[in-house]
Amino acid sequence: MVKVQDLVKVFRTERGPVVACDNVGFEVEEGRFFTLLGPSGCGKTTTLRCIAGLERPDQGEIGLAGSVVYSGRGRVFVPPNQRDIGMVFQSYAIWPHMTVFDNAAFPLRVGRARLSQAQMRRRVSQALATVRLEGLEDRPATNLSGGQQQRLALARALAREPKLLLLDEPLSNLDAKLREQMRLELRELQRRLRITTIYVTHDQVEALAMSNVVAVMHNGRIIQIGPPREIYERPASRFVADFIGSTNFLPGKVAGPAADGLCRVETAYGPILCISPGDAPPGREVLVSIRPEDITVADGISAGEGWEATVEQAVFLGESVDCRLTVSGLTLRARVHPSVRMRRGDRVRLSFRPDRCIAIRPAGDDGP
Ligand SMILES: Nc1ncnc2c1ncn2[C@@H]1O[C@H](COP(=O)(O)OP(=O)(O)OP(=O)(O)O)[C@@H](O)[C@H]1O
Ligand SMILES: [Mg+2]
Repeated sequence: MVKVQDLVKVFRTERGPVVACDNVGFEVEEGRFFTLLGPSGCGKTTTLRCIAGLERPDQGEIGLAGSVVYSGRGRVFVPPNQRDIGMVFQSYAIWPHMTVFDNAAFPLRVGRARLSQAQMRRRVSQALATVRLEGLEDRPATNLSGGQQQRLALARALAREPKLLLLDEPLSNLDAKLREQMRLELRELQRRLRITTIYVTHDQVEALAMSNVVAVMHNGRIIQIGPPREIYERPASRFVADFIGSTNFLPGKVAGPAADGLCRVETAYGPILCISPGDAPPGREVLVSIRPEDITVADGISAGEGWEATVEQAVFLGESVDCRLTVSGLTLRARVHPSVRMRRGDRVRLSFRPDRCIAIRPAGDDGP
């Protein structure tokens, strides 16, 4: 449905060129929810604007529904109003001087589609009903709550019945509770309409919760693409492991293979069994990434395997206890079940689930 290849976009500024998209490439299948995730300034909005035709790329190729809308080599550039796309911008830009109905109808009035009054009314009413704003057609748009304005922006994008929906941080102006609610609504809506969607966010929870596929961007590049679970459980680089969720890093050296396809890594604190994607050879320096929820903390140090540790801090968060633990000068974070009682200074024993520990390369963000 969407195919982006080797996309390059450079902004020429007074301070020199800024490479906003550095060979970006990905594909989105029809009906899927695809997310570009990354920190501020990594090139998410620029990528989206290139797909919409609001930005003229320097190189690459963009295909939409089987036809090429941009090709650097082929000198193709289809203007934005001829690409079948609905877009909700980062600042969702509701027009305050118009009513709800006129806001939603605007793209149809200015667009290419020649619709009769009746057809237009039907489309707009449908779009407003889809986002549950029916009955508010005649209200000035400024009299809507934040969440309602958000839905209106979405209705405006949907009224054109586009093949592709581009959403640029559409929930960023909402408070936490409403954002969570809208996140579910939006996903439900997308599923129901089966509309191919590219979503942009810097919020990893949003990305994991909503997407079929997540592409993590950093410095203008896509550094990992995969389903949410894969991105979270098999980060290919330090950047991805760190950016998505929180994690502990332990530097070490690969000692060799172990049973069950695992790999043994020697660290300054003791050996660890872990997964090593790409099978790092013995002697290779790696970082072992262990998520706080994958550390098991057992009371007392009397017997058994595992590392001895001291509790530095234990913060009760209701659904879990967030602990800071030290092992010979190394600080680790663990998230344990609230039924586990711990106090500062307690001696405990730690174990790690080998299938959840992952060895990644210490340097470089850009690949496995
Ligand atoms: N019109 C422009 N002129 C010059 N530089 C630009 C322009 N638009 C974007 N940039 C630069 O390109 C880079 C990527 O910007 P972009 O807006 O795509 O980032 P983003 O990932 O959407 O960030 P955010 O999460 O803050 O919205 C940044 O360094 C930005 O400063
Ligand atoms: Mg942006």
